[in-house]
Parts: sequence; structure tokens; C-alpha cells
Amino acid sequence: MRATLSHLAVFAAPLAAYAAPSLEVRQASQKVTIDLTKKYQTMDGFGFSGAFQRANLIVNLQAPKQREVLDLLFNTTTGAGFSIVRNGIGSTPNSNSDFMNTILPKCPSTPAEVTPTYSGYAWDGKDSGQLFLSQRAQEYGVKTFYADAWSAPGCMKTNNQDTNGGQLCGVSGTNCKSGDWKQAYANYLVAYVNFYAAAGIKVTHLGFLNEPDFSTSYASMQSSGTQAADFIKVLRPTLDRANLTSVGINCCDATGWSVAGQHAQQIASAGAESMVYAITSHEYTSRISGTIRTNARVWQTEYSDLNGGWSTAWYSNGGTGDGFTWANTVFNGVVNSNLSAYIFWEGVQDRKTNNNNNEKLILVDGQTYQVSKRLWAFAQFRVVRPGAVRVAASGGSNLKSAAFRNTDGSVAVVIINSATSAQTIGIALPGYPIASAWYTDNTHDMAVAAVTLATDGTASAGVPARGMISFLFTTPGNGTTV
Ligand SMILES: *[C@@H]1O[C@H](CO)[C@@H](O)[C@H](O)[C@H]1NC(C)=O
Ligand SMILES: *[C@@H]1O[C@H](CO)[C@@H](O)[C@H](O)[C@H]1NC(C)=O
Ligand SMILES: *[C@@H]1O[C@H](CO)[C@@H](O)[C@H](O)[C@H]1NC(C)=O
Ligand SMILES: *[C@@H]1O[C@H](CO)[C@@H](O)[C@H](O)[C@H]1NC(C)=O
Repeated sequence: MRATLSHLAVFAAPLAAYAAPSLEVRQASQKVTIDLTKKYQTMDGFGFSGAFQRANLIVNLQAPKQREVLDLLFNTTTGAGFSIVRNGIGSTPNSNSDFMNTILPKCPSTPAEVTPTYSGYAWDGKDSGQLFLSQRAQEYGVKTFYADAWSAPGCMKTNNQDTNGGQLCGVSGTNCKSGDWKQAYANYLVAYVNFYAAAGIKVTHLGFLNEPDFSTSYASMQSSGTQAADFIKVLRPTLDRANLTSVGINCCDATGWSVAGQHAQQIASAGAESMVYAITSHEYTSRISGTIRTNARVWQTEYSDLNGGWSTAWYSNGGTGDGFTWANTVFNGVVNSNLSAYIFWEGVQDRKTNNNNNEKLILVDGQTYQVSKRLWAFAQFRVVRPGAVRVAASGGSNLKSAAFRNTDGSVAVVIINSATSAQTIGIALPGYPIASAWYTDNTHDMAVAAVTLATDGTASAGVPARGMISFLFTTPGNGTTV
């Protein structure tokens, strides 16, 4: 999904100041039990996109605001600590409206001319602001860059335009006069990855479709899972030949979970599952529930609240844009549906676009910005670093708990308190003598919680009513990077 072009309006947006917490903790402790021996999926991380020129809103911010917004998104001690950036690979010959321009504005007449080193590529060194965003993200330690094309350039498609659906010429069911463009499209994607590499960014994951079950007036390309498999069988060896063996192919960014399940099944039937890193889904047309049958990892790569008006609330009776609602959404995907990554739609957007709805985490308008609690819901997951393995967590009434063992040995525990009153949480994790915790509610954003360590090793801290708390357990010399 994508918003329409907008113009800027200026407004005052002070950051909510927060006072040091002094949570009253009097009730009996709720025991949450962690079992490090029960292991589930490996986490790739949490992220957002700056696609459709939204990254330019950050590019155009002046000091010190630009640094403040980057810290909010990427800083692992003061912000959300996001670890994945999803970039859109442009397919439009120009940058009209908010479209993303392609590196191949003019196609040659035959597909064979489009090699990885074709002289007709037009790399502008900006990529709609996304290169800048990626370079800044990398400075914060981000290592996962998911580049995803909404469409192939129009000349490679059955409808000869990058918009309004159409299919890639050469996949099953197509018959284009201009020929088979599968190899050309793969070469073009390799060229894009190489331009990023030359600019210091290693694209780690590559997608060639976005919502291929949806045809619309902006960049879009139709595909079934079977047709996607036709292309994956060309793309994988093309990446390998270009020494891009470590770049994972993601597919297919379906509009919803049930279509993603069909894609997974069709890709497996076509014998291409082993060439896929992650089956990717959005949550627009069907929400995430249950698990997808696949040996690949599963990522949620784009979702947001498209209906609600701009809201910075943590809890407003379960509003679709509430931070608390989003905390539950991310939690559900990771704990109940085996997701290895959860990626929000836009990190930033202006006021005018889509009547200032909630499809962004931070409202950036000219030189002012305002932060939603959705960002702080994601920040509660920042203790979970890429490569962490989810382990078992249970116990406590009105509590949802998830635990993860980070690669540095530290243990992250993320807990949502669904109760309408504050609770005290007690976690006994033998062998981890250091415990820190942070909490978020209506008036706090990852505020430091007072943690008490009992002589039996139980770490206790209070979580506010309808609040969220994240613990990080470490040993001396371990887990100090978060
Ligand atoms: C994150 O924020 C802290 C506190 O302001 C700062 O010291 C640190 O340099 C920031 N991290 C990065 C990578 O910029
Ligand atoms: C791939 O790496 C090999 C070995 O380093 C090198 O000989 C070859 O030229 C590389 N190929 C490309 C396309 O970069
Ligand atoms: C969870 O995902 C992993 C891959 O990340 C897969 O191996 C495993 O079978 C999945 N488990 C379930 C229950 O779907
Ligand atoms: C850090 O954690 C790892 C894994 O649990 C452990 O093997 C290592 O000894 C720890 N290092 C220190 C300095 O505590």
C-alpha cells in the first residue's frame, strides 16, 4: 500500500517530556518462567521502510532534528533500535509524484542487452533518499537491508508499464513479442545490489515483488507463487554468478497472510523453496494467525494502520493506531506465528499524505517532528537483537511473555501487561546476576525500571497497567552492547 503525494505544513510538535518513574509496586509478584532449553525460531530483527521518497523527509531535516529522528529510529539505548531497513527498488522512469525512479529509465530493444554491467543504467547516488537512510542506519550497527522491487521496469512486462499490474515477460502464462525478460530482470537486480555495494551498503535480502495479488495505479506487478518460482530459478544462479551468494531471496510480499501461505505452497511445489530465504507477508487483506508451512523463515514485511487519524496514544480503548495495539500485533506475529522479522510500513511521513493517518511511526513535517507510541512499542523489542533465538516463556495472569537468547549470551524477556492494574513481575534466571528493565505506558517511553534482585536470584520489577516491560539479563562481560 502506498500513500499519495503531499505538501508540507508546519506545526509545533514538542517531544513529550518524561519524568523519572516512581512506580508503586505493592502487589504480590507474578512469576514468569523462562526455559532456555526450549528453542524456537531465530530472529532477524525489526524494521521499517522509507520507500516512496519518505526517506527524503529525513534527508531534508536539519541538525539537530535529523540526528534526533535517526536516534529515535536506530539508537539501541535511546530509540527503537531498529535492525532492518526495507528499501523500495524503483521501477518508474522518473521521480514524479512520490514514485521511486529506476536505474533503467530506458530499456534496450532486446533483453540480452541488459547485463549486470549494462552501460544504460542511471544510478543517481540517492535512490529516493534511501541510500542516505541506509548509510546512517549502518552507522548505528544495522546490518540487514531488504531491497524490494514493487515491479520490474515497464519494458520487461506484459503491459509495458511499471504501474497497473501486468506480469514479468517470460514467466509461465506469458508470451511477449519482446521476448523473455527473466534473465534481464535478474541482471538488473544484481546491478542495483552492486550500486549499493559500491556505496558501502551490503544488500542482504532481495525481493522482486510487492503485493503481487494486487494491481494498482502505482508500481505493481502480478504474480502467483508458481510464476515467482519461475523467476527465483533464474535469480538465484544469477546472484551466485555475481558472487552474491549470501544475498537471500525473499518472496513475495503478499497483501495478506492467507495469500502468503499460497505462495509458500506454490513455491515449494515448483521446487524453489530451498532458494528462498524468507516467505514474506503483509497484514492488510488477512491478519497473521497460525503458522505458514515452510522450511524458509517467515517475515512480516509491511503493515500499518491505514484508517485511523494520526495518534500518538499508547492506549485509547484499543485504537488501531495505539502503541499498545501494535505491541500486541508484533508480539502475536513473533510468538504465535513464528515470524523472524516484523517490519512496519513507513518510518516517517508528513502531515498531508493520506489525511495524516497512522501509516508512519514518526510524523515529520518540514523541520518539525512528532513521535507515536507505535515507535515505543517496537522499542520494547530492542533488547532482542538480530540472531537471537526465541525460547520458552510462560506464567503470570494477564501477562504475555516472550523470551529470547541473544548471540552475545544475554537473555531478553519482553512482557505485555494486559491487566487494568499495575503488576510486579518476578523472573528467576539462574546464572544471570545482572538484570535491567525498561517500560512503556501512556506517560513513559522505555523508562528505566527499578529492578530488585532477591537472594534467590529472582529479578523483580513493576509494569504499569496496560503497559509493557522488557528485561535484559546478562552476566559480567556479556550483553553489554544493548
Ligand atoms: C545513542 O545515543 C547515545 C545517548 O545519546 C549516544 O551516546 C550514542 O552515541 C548514540 N549511538 C549512536 C550509534 O549514535
Ligand atoms: C567472483 O569472485 C571470483 C573469485 O574472487 C572472481 O574471480 C570473479 O571475477 C568474481 N566474479 C564477479 C562477477 O565479480
Ligand atoms: C518456524 O520457522 C522455522 C524457520 O525459521 C522453521 O524451521 C520451523 O519449522 C517453523 N516452525 C513452525 C511451527 O512453523
Ligand atoms: C558470554 O556468554 C556466552 C554464552 O552464554 C558464554 O559462553 C561466555 O562465557 C560468556 N562470557 C562472559 C565473559 O561472561
